[in-house]
Amino acid sequence: MIKDQTRTKGTTSNAAKPTETESNIKFELLDRDGLGRACRLYTPHGHLDTPTLLPVINPNDQVLTAGEMRKLFGTQGVITNSYIIYKSERLHENALQKGVHGLLDFDGPIMTDSGTFQLFMYGRVNVQPQEIIEFQKQIKPDIGTILDVFGPARQTYEEAQEIVKETLKRAKDAVDIKDGQAFAGTVQGSLYPDLREHCADELSKLPFEMHPIGGVVPVIEQYLFSDLVKVIIASKKGLDPSRPVHLFGAGHPLIFPLAVALGCDTFDSASYIKYAKDDRLLFPEGTKKLAQLELLPCLCPVCNDTTVPELRSMDGPERIKLLAKHNLYVCFNELVRVKEAILEGTLWELVEMRARAHPQLLHSLKELYSNWKYLEHFEPISRKRFLYVGPESMQRPEIKRFVNRIKDRYDRPKTKTIVMFQEPGNRTTSYEEHFYSEISDVQKITDAHFVCQTMFGPVPIEFDGMYPFGQSVVDPELARELASSPKVIDQMKTYSHKLTNEFTIIWDGEQTLENLKMLSSAKNMFDIAEARMRAVADYQFGPGAAEALFKGELKFVRSKNTGKIRNILLDGKHILSLSAGVSLFTMRVPGARLLHDAIPKPRLRVVVAPDSAEFNRKGKSVFSKFVLSCDAGLRPGDEVLITDEEDTLVAIGRMVLIDLEAEAFDMGIAVRVREGIK
Ligand code: GUN
Ligand code: ZN
Repeated sequence: MIKDQTRTKGTTSNAAKPTETESNIKFELLDRDGLGRACRLYTPHGHLDTPTLLPVINPNDQVLTAGEMRKLFGTQGVITNSYIIYKSERLHENALQKGVHGLLDFDGPIMTDSGTFQLFMYGRVNVQPQEIIEFQKQIKPDIGTILDVFGPARQTYEEAQEIVKETLKRAKDAVDIKDGQAFAGTVQGSLYPDLREHCADELSKLPFEMHPIGGVVPVIEQYLFSDLVKVIIASKKGLDPSRPVHLFGAGHPLIFPLAVALGCDTFDSASYIKYAKDDRLLFPEGTKKLAQLELLPCLCPVCNDTTVPELRSMDGPERIKLLAKHNLYVCFNELVRVKEAILEGTLWELVEMRARAHPQLLHSLKELYSNWKYLEHFEPISRKRFLYVGPESMQRPEIKRFVNRIKDRYDRPKTKTIVMFQEPGNRTTSYEEHFYSEISDVQKITDAHFVCQTMFGPVPIEFDGMYPFGQSVVDPELARELASSPKVIDQMKTYSHKLTNEFTIIWDGEQTLENLKMLSSAKNMFDIAEARMRAVADYQFGPGAAEALFKGELKFVRSKNTGKIRNILLDGKHILSLSAGVSLFTMRVPGARLLHDAIPKPRLRVVVAPDSAEFNRKGKSVFSKFVLSCDAGLRPGDEVLITDEEDTLVAIGRMVLIDLEAEAFDMGIAVRVREGIK
C-alpha cells in the first residue's frame, strides 16, 4: 500500500494520527493467525464479528427473512441489492419511505450491492453509476457499494486495464458525492496481479469503508482456486490493511478457510438459496445432490429433525426452505470453526485439511505457499504446535523463516568436532534430552557441537525447542523418513560443505566414540545451555543481540519441576525469561535496556506519540492510533521496545499487529505492554 499523506503522522505532533473524515464505520483487529484475522466491524446498526457471512436477501423473494436468520444462525448482518430495489416500483417507494432497514424489517447491519453483477450477467442495467450512489444514500444501508465494472477471468490485459480505469473513475466520482454514507470500493483487475494490486492501491487512497474483491464468481464456480489465491493475494498487497475486505459471491463453505487465511473478513452469497432451489446441500467438503444421498451426514437442527425420504416427499417451497436452512447452518458453522482456528493458531492446518476435499483446492496450496515471503511478514513468531497435515505443510511460511533465520542469524560455535544425529524415529523428547547420554559421552572425549538431521533440514541443537521444530506433531516414523529425504540429504551436504571445523561425524553408536577417541580427542569447551541462550537471542532479536545481552556474569535459574532454564540473570539482574514450551525469550526491563543501547533504531522498536508514552510508562497497552512508526522486521508475538520520538524507552511489550497494520489502524491494540518504564 502506498500511504495516503493524510495518514502519515507528523513528527512533532502530540496527538494520535489524524483520522480521515470521521466515518461511522470502525474496524478493529482483535485476534489473528497470520493474515487471517478475527475483527469487529462497528456500524450504525451494531457490529459484525468477522469472519462472517452476510446472506443475500432478495427483497422480492424472502425464503428466509433476516430476522429469522438472526434467530436461527445468529446472523449479525445481511446484504441486499439496491439495484433490485431501485428498479421495482413497489420496493423503490417502500425503501425511500422506510429505508432499507424498514424494507427488510431488520435492525442489524445491512450492506447493499449496486447492480454490477446484474450488468455482467444480463449485459445492461438501467441505472447510471451516480444514480445508484444517490439512491443508496437515500435508503441508508450501513455500507453501500459503488457500481464497479465486473472484470471476468477471460479478459485480455488491455480489457482488464480499461475496466480497472473505469472502476477507479467511478470510485472517485462516488467519493465526491458520498457525504456521510459509507461505501465499499470494489477491487477489479481480472486475473492480472499487477492490475489487482494497482486497483487496490488506488482505492485505498480514497475514503472507502470497505473493499470487496470482485469479479471472482466465475473463478469460484469453475473451481479455479489457484487463480482465486492469486487474485486475493494481489488485492491484499495493495489494500490498506486497516480496512475490512469482502469477497463478493463467495458463499461456499469449501473456500472459507482458505479465503480467511488470506485476509478476507466477510463473505456474501446467494448460494444457500440457489443450491436449495436445485435440491443441493452444502457441506464443508463440497456439495451433494439430495437425489444422491441416503442419509444426512449433518447434525444441524434440520437434519436432526428429518430424513432424506421425508425431504424428497415434501412439496417444493417447504423443502427449499429446509435445505436453505441446512445450507446456512453449515456455512455459519464452518465460519465458527475457522474463527476457532484463528484463536487457536491452527489456521494453516484447517486450510490444508479442508483442501483435501477437492483436487483443485489442494492444488491451490502450491500457489498459496509460493507467496511465502509475503505471508511470512504476517506469521506469528511461534505457535502452540506444528501439525504435519501433508507434504504441503513443509512449505508453510514459518518453516522458510526458521530455515532462513538459522542461515542468517546464527554463528556456529567453533568446536573442533561436529556430531550429527539422525532423526531416530522414536523420539518423544527434544534432541538434547533424547541424546543426553550420547552427548555427555562425546563431551568426555572431545570438544563437539551437535547438529540434528531433521525433517526441516539441519538444525543445530541450540534450536531444538524452537517453533516449528520443537512443537512439531508428526508420526515419528514419517519424521524419520522425511529427515532422510533427498532434499534433506542435499541440505545436509550444503551445510557440511560450509563447516570449517576439523572433523564431522554422523553418530553411529559406540563405534563413533571409538573413532572420536582416535581422531579428535580434545577438552570440551562447548556449553549447550549458554550456546542455546546466545542462539535464541540472535534468532529472536537479530544479529548483535547475544553480544549485547550476555556481557558479564550469567546465571541460569532452572525450573524445579523440569530442570529447564526459566530466568536469566546477568550480574544478578533478571534480564530475560525463557518461555516454557516455545524456547523464546520474554524481555525484562534490564534486558530491554541492553538491547536498546546496543541495537540501533528502528530495529526492535515501536515509536509512539507523546500522548501514548505517558500511559505506556504506566503499563497500559499501545493503541494503533498512537503508533508513529514500527520496525518492519517485527512479527506478531514478537517482543518489542516501545520508545518515544527521541528514542527514550518507555515500555516493553508484545506485538499484536505488524508495522503496516499498526501504522494504518486507527483503532485497537497494536502492542500489549508487559511492563512500563518510569
Ligand atoms: N457480486 C458478485 N461479484 C461482484 C462484483 O465484482 N462487484 C459487485 N459490485 N458485486 C458483485
Ligand atoms: Zn444439516
